[in-house]
Amino acid sequence: MPNEGSYDAALRRSNQISADLRVNPGKYCMLTGDRPTGRLHLGHYFGTLRERVNLQNLGVRTNVIIADYQVITDRDTTDHIADNVLNMVIDYLACGIDPARTMIFTHSSVPALNQLMLPFLSLVSESELHRNPTVKAEQEASGHTLTGLLLTYPVHQACDILFCKGNIVPVGRDQLPHIELTRQIARRFNKRYGKVFPDVSGLLTSTPMLPGLDGRKMSKSYGNAISICMTDAETAKLIRKSRTDSERNITFDPENRPGVAALLTTAGICTGREPAEIAEEIGMGGAGQLKRFVTDAVNDYFAPIRARRQELEKDMDYIHDVLADGNRRANEIANATLDEVRAAMGMVY
Ligand code: TRP
Repeated sequence: MPNEGSYDAALRRSNQISADLRVNPGKYCMLTGDRPTGRLHLGHYFGTLRERVNLQNLGVRTNVIIADYQVITDRDTTDHIADNVLNMVIDYLACGIDPARTMIFTHSSVPALNQLMLPFLSLVSESELHRNPTVKAEQEASGHTLTGLLLTYPVHQACDILFCKGNIVPVGRDQLPHIELTRQIARRFNKRYGKVFPDVSGLLTSTPMLPGLDGRKMSKSYGNAISICMTDAETAKLIRKSRTDSERNITFDPENRPGVAALLTTAGICTGREPAEIAEEIGMGGAGQLKRFVTDAVNDYFAPIRARRQELEKDMDYIHDVLADGNRRANEIANATLDEVRAAMGMVY
């Protein structure tokens, strides 16, 4: 097939799978995850969390990895990781992830997953690793030296996906090179040692990326992200502080008015309305009225999620239990897969 690794090809596969998922959910196993570097925000929620809950509710096998080893790819401390991990579990559950149906687990708790890294590393070349555009971009953004772990983390991500034989991975476009590498690793392994791993596809979200409040990429480090766990007052304050422009009449013009457009996009996604329609309604009401509208839209949408969050926070023993149970199940699956890998490689002694 020509250009199989291209964005168009990935989109085509993703659309086919999206349609088939509703008919044959049992054919699919989803694996995706997050780096526990801070609190989850609206970009995570609308970009992927909501879709994970949909897949779970459709009856797809769903697995979510909290990628704690990925945090040390580009920073020198493990401070805050444990706290971030627990808060991530709380966010997942508050958003509708059901731990009875979705396995939630961490890298560092599943040794057999990590051991897949050795055979998988033997299937990729150094130049392939250096060519990965996402790794390069992440290294530049972090300002950290290129560690061996950052260079090879796409291979580690292949271990995350393949240990549980995941075949669909909901991701943003920036993660597609990693999915392509995972496909290659699975194919090369199967060709060399016999079929163990499935064919993997990225599932691209149909929602356009939600910008941060200033119109740039949403990121905690830019201070432009509304976290799921914020209170109504914290949300209001962040929105009030966000930069708009001196033009009173509100119009939806992402190119020339990134701040105003980001607010309108946020309001649109929370109310299910078109940003341009909201702009027209506010018109000469100006930035003040727009900000009040966005604040209400966000706080209304997240009210039930935040209320659940507060309840969950009161019972940290339960949160620890959810994670321990996910880790136990992940270990069973990883041990079974590693046994298959050893058998395929003729390394059973
Ligand atoms: N690399 C992803 C990120 O930075 C997180 C992640 C880790 C992941 N392992 C994964 C995503 C496996 C999908 C599948 O956001």
